Amino acid sequence: MTYAIKSLACDPTRIKGMSEKLIVSHYENNYGGAVNRLNAITARLAELDFAKAPGFVINGLKREELIANNSMILHELFFASLGDESTPEGELHDALARDFGSFDRWRAEFSADGQGAGRRLGMGAADLVAARQQARQSVGDGPHDDACRRPADRRTRHV
Ligand SMILES: [Fe+2]
Repeated sequence: MTYAIKSLACDPTRIKGMSEKLIVSHYENNYGGAVNRLNAITARLAELDFAKAPGFVINGLKREELIANNSMILHELFFASLGDESTPEGELHDALARDFGSFDRWRAEFSADGQGAGRRLGMGAADLVAARQQARQSVGDGPHDDACRRPADRRTRHV
């Protein structure tokens, strides 16, 4: 399977706080590099004789496949989420306020996560994600068990 580089899903000239040059460079080098790396790893795996290959070779390629695949997916989500500044509304707003104590508390923590990644790595971003069960709980649909009552894991980061 070959992965295609998707077109840039935002208008890089309209994003507040990031230059067009930065966005395009990130798209071409970081995202494009992840897709190219994933394709190279996929090709290596397709040629591999799994019955004879040493475990460290298989494990290494699989680990790198996972890293490249995550990078590809997270970059696609990142570029697709860039746009005009907005504030969560409705059920998402209510779920954030419920799970973090208040909407403002969530906003402060979310911003701090992204800024913290920036200080550690030179470029930071934070992703808001929730597991399917937690998402169901957030919108009040589906069965709730004890595992669903825990707050969402808010430590997922994108760099
Ligand atoms: Fe990135």
